[in-house]
Amino acid sequence: MEHHLVCEGDREGAADTLAQLLAFTKVHFDAEELLMRHHRYPGLDGHAAAHRTLYAEALAVGQAHGAGDPEAARATVVRLRRWLLEHIEGSDVAFDAWCREQHVVLE
Ligand SMILES: [Fe+2]
Repeated sequence: MEHHLVCEGDREGAADTLAQLLAFTKVHFDAEELLMRHHRYPGLDGHAAAHRTLYAEALAVGQAHGAGDPEAARATVVRLRRWLLEHIEGSDVAFDAWCREQHVVLE
């Protein structure tokens, strides 16, 4: 994605990539929160708040790109990637551990 954002002449490709990222992100977060709600995960509120923050960052990438500011878009992608990895390694792993403790089987 960073390549799309910093290379002139591929704005359409970058816009398509961003649109796909936003759509996938929303579906993924909604599905994860639905699972948490269904299983009454006690950390749902905090986890959902983290998802909203991550989604806002993804929206910011699109806004920076749409405003013709590839460097701002690139910086936001770098920040988003770091937050996403931290989220997966922290909050998502915690949910998985809770599921194991509670004998919840996710399919
Ligand atoms: Fe998550």
